[in-house]
Amino acid sequence: MRKRFLFLIIMVIAGTLIAGSQEPKIILTPRPGPEPRINGAKIFGVRPGSPFLFTIPATGKRPMKYDVLNLPAGLRCDPETGQIKGTINKPGEYLTTVMVTNELGSAKREFKVVCGDKLALTPQMGWNSWYVWENHVTDKIMREAADAMVSSGMIDHGYMYINIDDCWSAKPGSTDSTLLVEPRDKNSMINSNRRFPDMKALTDYIHLKGLKAGIYTSPGPFTCAGHTAIYGNEEQDIMRFVQWGFDFLKYDWCSYDNIGRRDTLPDLQKPYLLVSKILKKQKRDIVLNLCQYGMGKVWKWGKEVGGQSWRTADDLGGSFEGIGTALFRDGFDVYSRDSLHLYAGPGGWNDPDYLLLGYLSNWNGKTVPTPLTPNEQYTQVSLWSIVAAPLIFSGDITRLDEFTLSLLTNDEVIEVDQDPLGKPGHRVSKDGNMEVWERQMEDGSYAVGLFNRGENETNVTANWTDLGFSGKQRVRDLWRQKDIGEFKDNFIVMVPGHGVVMTRMWALAE
Ligand code: GLA
Repeated sequence: MRKRFLFLIIMVIAGTLIAGSQEPKIILTPRPGPEPRINGAKIFGVRPGSPFLFTIPATGKRPMKYDVLNLPAGLRCDPETGQIKGTINKPGEYLTTVMVTNELGSAKREFKVVCGDKLALTPQMGWNSWYVWENHVTDKIMREAADAMVSSGMIDHGYMYINIDDCWSAKPGSTDSTLLVEPRDKNSMINSNRRFPDMKALTDYIHLKGLKAGIYTSPGPFTCAGHTAIYGNEEQDIMRFVQWGFDFLKYDWCSYDNIGRRDTLPDLQKPYLLVSKILKKQKRDIVLNLCQYGMGKVWKWGKEVGGQSWRTADDLGGSFEGIGTALFRDGFDVYSRDSLHLYAGPGGWNDPDYLLLGYLSNWNGKTVPTPLTPNEQYTQVSLWSIVAAPLIFSGDITRLDEFTLSLLTNDEVIEVDQDPLGKPGHRVSKDGNMEVWERQMEDGSYAVGLFNRGENETNVTANWTDLGFSGKQRVRDLWRQKDIGEFKDNFIVMVPGHGVVMTRMWALAE
C-alpha cells in the first residue's frame, strides 16, 4: 500500500515537472528603442463631414513632439498628443507627412488620408471585452481598458478601438438588478443597463485618450447573451449609438432566426443591408463588423452589404479548452479551403475572431492564462497578420505580462497586417503539416510565413517556385526583426511544433 502511495507521489511530481517544463515563453520582439519611430496604419479613410480622429502611433522616449505637413483643410494635429482631429468636407486623397521628434532625433513617414465613402482601409486594431469579461462588463472595466491601452504603450503601435461586446443593455427577466432597467426610453431608444450609467461620458473618456469606442448589438430582439437588441428599432438605436459617440458596431445574428430566415442569400443579407443603410446616413463614421459566423460564405458579399469586416467562422474561444483546435482548424482551413483572400481588401476584411492571448475567462467564473502554447500564440498573431485580419485583443488588457505585450506590439509583424496595399495573404504550399503562406506587400516584397501544424519540430521549406520568386532574396525574420541572409531557390528553416517562422523577403538585383 505504502509503495503504491509513493509511486503515486512520484508520478504527480513528474507530471508537474513535465507540465512546468512545457514550452518557455521566449520573447522574440526587440524592445522599442528610445529613438522616435512611427508605427501602425499608413492610410486612413474618413467620410466627408464626419468627425475625424486618428492618433499618430509612435514609440520612443517621451516627451515627443508631433507634426503633420500638408494636412487637408479642416484637420489639425495636436503637437503634444499626436491626435489629429477635425472634419474634412472635400472628398479626395491627401498625402501628408507625419513627423515625430524627441531629444534623440526625429522620424518622418508618409500618411495618406482618404476622404470618400470607404472606411477601414486597413484592418481594425483594438481591444474587445468579450473573452475576458463576458457578461460582467462595466463602464469601469471599459475605462480601465482605455487607460491600459495607453499605459501599456499599445496605442503607440496602432491599436485604437476599445470595444464593448454583449451585455451593456437591459436583460429582461434577469435576477440581477443592475440589468433590470427599462429596455427603451419613451422614444423607443435603447437604454444601457446600470453597469453603464452614462455611455456618452464613457465614449468622451475614450476619445480624450485619442482612442475610438465600439458597441455591440444583434438584429434580433435579443443578443446572444439574452440582452435587449435592435429588432424593430433599427433607426432609433443607430441614432442612439451616434449620439453616444460610438465609432464601431459589432452586429451579431443571435435571435434573428426567430423573426427572420436564413434560407437564401437575400435572407442572410437583409438585416445587414438594413443597418448599413442607416449607418451611411449618419454624420459619424461607424465601422460595421458582421458577426454571423461565416453563413452563406459571407466573405463573398460582406462588403456589398456595407460591412467593413465579417466573422469567417464560429467563436474561436467558444470552448476554452478548444481554442487551440479551433485556431488550427478555422484559422488555417477555412481560409485555404474557400480562398478567402480573394474577397477582402481595403474597406472590408475577413475576421477570424479575436487574439486569444494573455488572461481569458475560462467560462467558469475564473480568469486564467490562455490555453495556447507560446508557439501557438506566435502562430495566431502571424497568421492573422498574413491574412490581413483585424488585430483585436480580447484578453485582460490591464494584466499584460511582457510576453503577451511582446506578441501584440511587434511593429514589423503589425506592418504586415496593416500594409496599405491591403492584399490578404494565402497558402501557397502544403506538405503534410508544413504550410507556407505568402502576402504581397506594397513595396514589392512578400511576407512569408512558414508554419508547422504538427506537434514536433520540423524543417519547413519555402520554395521559390511556390512563392513565384526567381533569383536571390534577402530574408528577414520579422519576430526577431533581424535579417537572416540571402537565399536562392528556397529557404529552409526549423519550425517548432505548432509554431511559425515569419519572414519578409525582398528580391535582390541579379
Ligand atoms: C456571439 C459572438 C461572440 C460574442 C457573443 C456575445 O457568440 O460570436 O463574439 O459577441 O455572441 O454574446
